[in-house]
Amino acid sequence: MSESGLPRLAHNKVTALGGMIALATLMAIILMIVADVLTERSNPYFDIILLIILPTILIFGLLLIPLGMWLTWRRQRRTRVDEITGWPVVDLNLPSHRNATLVFVLGTVVFILLSSFGVYQAYHYSESVEFCGELCHTVMQPQYAAYKESSHARVSCTACHVGYGADWYAKSKLSGAYQVYATLADVFPRPIPTPIENLRPARETCEQCHWPEKHYSGRVREFVHYRYDEANTPWYLEMLIKTGGDESEGLHASGIHWHINKDVLIEYAARDEGRQDIPWVRYTNGRTGEVVVFQDTEAPLAEESLAGKELRRMDCLDCHNRPSHVFHSPDHLMDRLLLTGRISKALPEIKSIAVNVMVSEYDSAQEAHEAISAKLRSYYASEYPGLSETHSVEVDSAVVAVQHAFARNIFPGMKAQWSVYPSNIGHFSDIGCMRCHAGYHRAEDGRTITHECNACHTILAQGPVGDIEVAESQEGSEFRHPEDIDKAWLEMGCYECHDGTQP
Ligand code: HEC
Ligand code: HEC
Ligand code: HEC
Ligand code: HEC
Ligand code: HEC
Ligand code: HEC
Repeated sequence: MSESGLPRLAHNKVTALGGMIALATLMAIILMIVADVLTERSNPYFDIILLIILPTILIFGLLLIPLGMWLTWRRQRRTRVDEITGWPVVDLNLPSHRNATLVFVLGTVVFILLSSFGVYQAYHYSESVEFCGELCHTVMQPQYAAYKESSHARVSCTACHVGYGADWYAKSKLSGAYQVYATLADVFPRPIPTPIENLRPARETCEQCHWPEKHYSGRVREFVHYRYDEANTPWYLEMLIKTGGDESEGLHASGIHWHINKDVLIEYAARDEGRQDIPWVRYTNGRTGEVVVFQDTEAPLAEESLAGKELRRMDCLDCHNRPSHVFHSPDHLMDRLLLTGRISKALPEIKSIAVNVMVSEYDSAQEAHEAISAKLRSYYASEYPGLSETHSVEVDSAVVAVQHAFARNIFPGMKAQWSVYPSNIGHFSDIGCMRCHAGYHRAEDGRTITHECNACHTILAQGPVGDIEVAESQEGSEFRHPEDIDKAWLEMGCYECHDGTQP
C-alpha cells in the first residue's frame, strides 16, 4: 500500500482514467435517477441514456482499473525492473486492510445489486413501445402512427413481434442491433418490406390472447361508400360475415375460421415475396387424413419451381396481416370522413377531388399538406365561386380533415401507403381471400376452392340511402353493383377496378 492508501500498481494513467470515468458516470447516473424521481417525464432518449449508454460507460471505466494495473505489472515484469511491484497482499489482521476489504466487498455487493436492477430495467425498456416506436421516429413513424389508431394500441409491439421466451428475445435484439446500424448509417429500405420474413408464428403470439377454439358466431357489418358524383351519393351495404368455424369436427369446410381449426392444415406456395400470388395450395385434414392439392388453373406453378419453394403454413397472419398497422386508401379515408360528418356532403364532388389530390405523388409530407389546401381551395374558387363564399367554413374543415387523414396514412418519406401494404381481409381493394378463392384453384378431381359469394357472407341490405333493398330471406340478396358494369363484378375481382383510388 502506498501513502494514498491505494495499491502501488494502481498508480498509472489507465487506472486513473478508468477511475475518473467510473466516478463521473456514477454521479451522472445518480443525478439522472434523482431527476427521474422528481419529474414527470416521458422521453425515450432519457431512458436510453440512463439505462443503456451510461451503464456501458460505467462498466468500461471499471474495466480500465484492473486493466491499467495488469498492464503496469506486465511492463514491469518484461523490463525486469529490479523492484517489481507485487500484487497487494491482504492481511486481515491489520485494521486498515480489514476496512479496505470491507469497503471493497460492500461496494461490490451494492454494485451487483444496482446493476441487476439496471439490467432488469433495461430489459423492460428495450421491450417497451416507446423504445420500438418512438426512438427511430422516421423509420417506424408509419407503423407507429397506424398502431396508435388500431384496436391493439395498448398491446406492446413485442407482444406480437417477439412474444415470450429468451430465445426470441435474443433473436430480436440481434436483428435489432443491425437495425440500429441501418438507421444510423441510413441504409434501411424505404418502404420497410412486408411480410416480415421470420415473424414468430401466430400460435406463439396472437394466440396468447385470442384462442383459436373460441367460437365466433358471425358478425354483422355495415359498409357505407360514397359515389364519385357531384352529390357524393351514399351507397349502403349490410352483411353478415360468417366468421364462425366448424370447430366441432373440422370435417367440412364451412365458416371463415375453419382454416385455423386444429384438425385443418393448409399450406401454400407463393410466387412473390409479398405472398399475394398463390398458385398452389394443399389442404390436409388431420382427422381423416384426406389430402387435396389445389392448383391455379389460369397460371399453374411449374413442377420444378415448386420443388425449390418453401411452403408456408397458413395461420392468423395470412388473413389478419394488418391487425395493428392499417394504411387506409384515399377511397376508404374519404368514405369515413363523409360518414362521420368530418367533411360535409354538401360540397359538390368533394370525394372525387380529395381522393385524386391524395393519390398524387409527393416528395414530402409538407408538400402534400400544402397541395391539399391549394388544390381544394382553387377547385371551389374556380368551379363554384358562389359556394366558396357561402360554404367557406365547410371548405376549411374539409382541407384540415384531408390533411390530417393524409398525414396519418400516407408517408412520402418512407414511401409507406395503402398500395405497398395490402390487407388480406376481404377482397374489395386488395386481392385478399381471392388469392385462393377466385374460383380457378382446382384439384385434379375438379373440386374448386369456393368463389360462391354466399360462402363467406350474405347481403342483408343494400342500395342508395333512401332506396335500400332489404333481403327477403336468410339467404340474403344477390349483390347489386351501383354502376351498370354488366357482370364484370362477378367475372373480375372488385380490387381490379377498386384499388383504393377512383375506379
Ligand atoms: C397486434 C399485433 C401487433 C402489434 C401490437 C404491433 N405489430 Fe407490427 N406487425 C404486426 C403484423 C401482423 C405485421 C405484418 C407481418 C407480416 O405480414 O409478415 C407487422 C409488421 C410490422 C412492420 C413491417 C412493415 C409492415 O407494415 O408490414 C413494422 C416495421 C412493425 N410491424 C413495427 C411495429 C411497431 C414499431 C409496433 C409498436 C409501436 C408494432 N409493430 C406493434 C403485428 C403487430
Ligand atoms: C396482448 C394481447 C393481444 C395480442 C398479443 C393480440 N391481440 Fe388482438 N386484440 C386484443 C384485444 C384486447 C382486442 C380487443 C380490442 C377491442 O375490443 O377494441 C383485440 C382485437 C383483435 C381483433 C378484432 C379487432 C378489430 O379491429 O376487428 C383482431 C382481428 C385481432 N385482435 C387479431 C390479432 C392478431 C392477428 C394478433 C397477432 C398478430 C393479435 N390480435 C394479437 C389483444 C391482443
Ligand atoms: C381465412 C382467413 C382468416 C384466418 C386464417 C383467421 N381469421 Fe380471424 N377473421 C377473419 C375475417 C374475414 C374476420 C371478420 C372481419 C370483419 O368482420 O371485418 C375475422 C374476425 C376475427 C376477429 C374479430 C371477431 C369479432 O367478431 O369481433 C378476431 C378476434 C379474429 N378474427 C382472430 C383471429 C385469430 C386469433 C386467428 C388465428 C388463430 C384468425 N382470426 C384467423 C378471417 C380470418
Ligand atoms: C391460402 C389459400 C386460402 C386463402 C388465402 C383463403 N382461403 Fe378460404 N379456403 C381455402 C381452402 C383450401 C378451403 C377448403 C376448400 C375445400 O375443402 O373445398 C377454404 C375454405 C373456405 C371456406 C369454406 C368454404 C365452403 O365450402 O363453405 C370459407 C368460408 C373460406 N374459405 C373463407 C375465406 C376467407 C373469408 C378468406 C379471406 C379472409 C379466405 N378464405 C382465404 C384456402 C384459402
Ligand atoms: C372467400 C370468401 C369470400 C367470397 C367467396 C366472397 N367474399 Fe365478399 N367479402 C369477404 C370478406 C372477408 C369481406 C370483408 C369483410 C370485412 O372487411 O370485414 C368481404 C366484403 C365484401 C363486400 C363489402 C366490401 C366493402 O368494403 O364494401 C362486398 C360488397 C362483397 N364482399 C361482395 C362479394 C361478392 C359480390 C362476391 C361474389 C362474387 C363475394 N363478395 C365473394 C369474403 C368473401
Ligand atoms: C370493371 C370494373 C369494376 C369492377 C370489377 C367492380 N366495380 Fe364497383 N364500381 C366501378 C365503377 C366504374 C363504379 C362507379 C364509380 C362512381 O362513379 O361512383 C363503381 C362503384 C362501386 C360502388 C359505389 C361506391 C364507389 O366507390 O363508387 C361500390 C360499393 C362498388 N362499386 C362495389 C363493388 C364490388 C363489391 C365489386 C366486386 C364484387 C365491384 N364493385 C367490382 C367499377 C367496378
